[in-house]
Amino acid sequence: MTSDRTASSLPPLLDAVHNRETAFTNEERHKNGTLGLLPDAVETLDRQMERVLWQLDSKSNDLERFLHLNGLSQRNETLFFKVVMSDPKRFLPIVYDPTIADACLQYNRLFERPQGLYLSLRHKGHVKEILANWPEKDVRFICVSSGGRILGLGDIGANGMGIPVGKLQLYTACAAIPPQGLMPMLLDIGTTNQKLIDDPLYLGLRQAPPSSDELDAFVDELVAAIQELYPHCCLHFEDWKGDDAIRLLARYRDKILCYNDDIQGTAAITIAGLDTALSIKGEALKEQRILFYGAGSAGIGIANMIVSALQDEGLSETDARACISMMDINGLIEPSRQDLNPSQKVFAHFHAATKDLAEAVKSIKPTVLIGVSTNAGGFTEEVVRTMASINDKPVIFALSNPTDKAECTAEQAYRWTDGRALFAAGVQFDDVTLNGKTLTPGQANNFYIFPAVALAVWATQARRITDEVFLEAAKATAEQVTAEQRAHGLLFPPQKDVLRVEINTAIKVARQIFNSGLAQVPEPEDIVDWMEAKLYRPEYTSANRQ
Ligand code: NAI
Repeated sequence: MTSDRTASSLPPLLDAVHNRETAFTNEERHKNGTLGLLPDAVETLDRQMERVLWQLDSKSNDLERFLHLNGLSQRNETLFFKVVMSDPKRFLPIVYDPTIADACLQYNRLFERPQGLYLSLRHKGHVKEILANWPEKDVRFICVSSGGRILGLGDIGANGMGIPVGKLQLYTACAAIPPQGLMPMLLDIGTTNQKLIDDPLYLGLRQAPPSSDELDAFVDELVAAIQELYPHCCLHFEDWKGDDAIRLLARYRDKILCYNDDIQGTAAITIAGLDTALSIKGEALKEQRILFYGAGSAGIGIANMIVSALQDEGLSETDARACISMMDINGLIEPSRQDLNPSQKVFAHFHAATKDLAEAVKSIKPTVLIGVSTNAGGFTEEVVRTMASINDKPVIFALSNPTDKAECTAEQAYRWTDGRALFAAGVQFDDVTLNGKTLTPGQANNFYIFPAVALAVWATQARRITDEVFLEAAKATAEQVTAEQRAHGLLFPPQKDVLRVEINTAIKVARQIFNSGLAQVPEPEDIVDWMEAKLYRPEYTSANRQ
């Protein structure tokens, strides 16, 4: 009797998808056996949110708020999304960047309950069986990281699981994609991080990562298993070591439904920011000289997509590449360098070798400077002041994150350019007041792009994701920055509007997917109504009723 009651009464309160906790009505409590397992009050979702907001206010820092929200996501998914979607400007920096960086660094210590699928190299040969253990059978997106390059934190192995979990939460929070078909995955291939290997509480494989050939064979097995088990699934590569990221995207992009957010999503949001900056300057992309500081997966991804955009403006591939110069940890990318990979070699233009960014800025005279180096402070006062002496409105993007990896702060960029910089960062910096004028730094974060692209891909059941899809998303994002916002130096739509912005973007991207013949569903008559009807809403509805 007791065990029967337990079996029938506990699941509703342990099932995060259907759980309503104090919002279960008395009738529901009678039916689902939760009568007495809950206090007397029957509350609305809004009242429950009020309590969560109070609890969050009482925490002393954002990591504690992250942990509280993370616990809530595992207890009551609807309430979690209700809270996060109620105020994206406040909550995105808590559930994602920059707080997620602190959480990932300590993930093995903070660990309580697994939140995604851990696919270890030990599972080689059995990937399909392991995948089948995931409870949801209609998986539409797998966000997979190897932990090899998490944000600007380097290789943190299995601690990287926080990233796929957080990214997929943004699918729902920023673009209203229903959470059920989303699978976070950590491909545990070992780590080069000796500190973690030596940590008794580390949760991943304690060995060095395999050769590229062995890794590729393992990913091939994963891809084949996904195709078989989840034929409509899109594979989202996230935060892999630079070389692995570039190689794996090249290997699969024309064969399966996949994308790499660090490469394509970052490129698209940067192009969106450039679009807005150039409209403020009144100049065309083909008139720019662009210098990248950092030539890894993000830098190469942005550079290649800028080349595509320049080709759209009528330039040849060679002329388009000539607009772009790049530097990495070993200096300026030029033909005498012996250590360049093929994706870097195409940007090697004749120039004296230098490892000094200020010197490179003086001789190349860029109009646009983009930092994707993970080198905090790389944009020194000399570098920024030189940009200001060359340009009336220097475009300076310090995209590395988390916050303490940014190449310069918003305050530095504005102060050293007398407020003339068109500035964006990978994280949200506070407004800066200079000479009585308030300047609002933009956040060039790919969270404006990948959820919108994912929504369009999911709704249209796209066969492939092309660069054109990301360029369309970039254009649609830039178009939504109003003239008034541009006047304040804002290069991206405000975070508070992120959901509406991304739905609008997704509608345009879906149109592009229909026009390119890549959709696998019939084109609706009214695409706006069609999209709106598909959106997830954080409400207790019959869809999430037990
Ligand atoms: P990666 O590891 O593939 O590349 C880093 C690049 O920076 C390499 O070319 C490396 O040689 C270069 N580098 C490192 N130290 C340097 C130094 N002292 N001077 C000059 N170059 C240096 O990493 P990935 O994926 O390209 O990411 C780079 C940064 O961009 C990370 O901090 C990441 O968080 C950030 N990022 C930001 C995004 C956004 O949406 N804002 C999206 C993706 C990445």
